[in-house]
Amino acid sequence: MNAVPDIIIAIDGYSATGKSTLAKLIAAEFGFTYLDSGAMYRAVTLFAMESGFVSGESINADALRQALEKDGLDINFGAENRTFIGDRCIEKEIRSMEVSSHVSPVAALAFVRAFVDEKLHAWGRRGRVVMDGRDIGTAVFPEAQLKLFVTASDQVRAQRRYDELISKGQQTPMQDVMANLKERDYIDSHRETNPLRQAEDAFVLDNSDMNLHEELVWVKGLIMGRFGIFESI
Ligand code: DC
Repeated sequence: MNAVPDIIIAIDGYSATGKSTLAKLIAAEFGFTYLDSGAMYRAVTLFAMESGFVSGESINADALRQALEKDGLDINFGAENRTFIGDRCIEKEIRSMEVSSHVSPVAALAFVRAFVDEKLHAWGRRGRVVMDGRDIGTAVFPEAQLKLFVTASDQVRAQRRYDELISKGQQTPMQDVMANLKERDYIDSHRETNPLRQAEDAFVLDNSDMNLHEELVWVKGLIMGRFGIFESI
């Protein structure tokens, strides 16, 4: 079997397209490290909320900037890709609707993006990583050797996110889930700093009618073709 070279795989796309599930699967398949950049923006958002820097729709950006500059924020990933601040596991909290409803404006702040990018660069430099987000292939790692841009219909995405919330015991009306996805898509693709957009050299994957196995087969085919791997990987 020919090994996959030490590449960076960048997976970008809209919210709830299943990017992270696919990224984790690719990482497990090829022995790569998976890095969830959205989890980092969610962690900063949770920190801002718990520090009292978010009230209603407004964010005290100056206070957040000062706090990050003064003490940093020790975001790290543990077993099963669970997200931590220091030694506190925040995986459940960062997936809540409250965090989802504040994360896009927090992620639009240029200093928050610089803070997260620095960590992503440090981790990505080691190679053999799959990273998912909104601007990985365009801004964080424009040199990534394989870029995917994942899309799916609004209905499919909302249903997936709804099912995920229900499975975690978080009952949320479907219309709220849909409204949150649309609002985040809008903010993510219209912000000034590194908005969500498809890299010119990205391969587009519309997974509206695909299951995970089909997606993985598609990605494997792409990798085999791109890196001249002719044996089964
Ligand atoms: O992938 P996710 O839904 O967990 O991401 C949460 C939010 O973080 C998303 O609405 C936009 C922001 N994000 C970003 O701006 N850039 C990234 N590379 C990843 C996420």
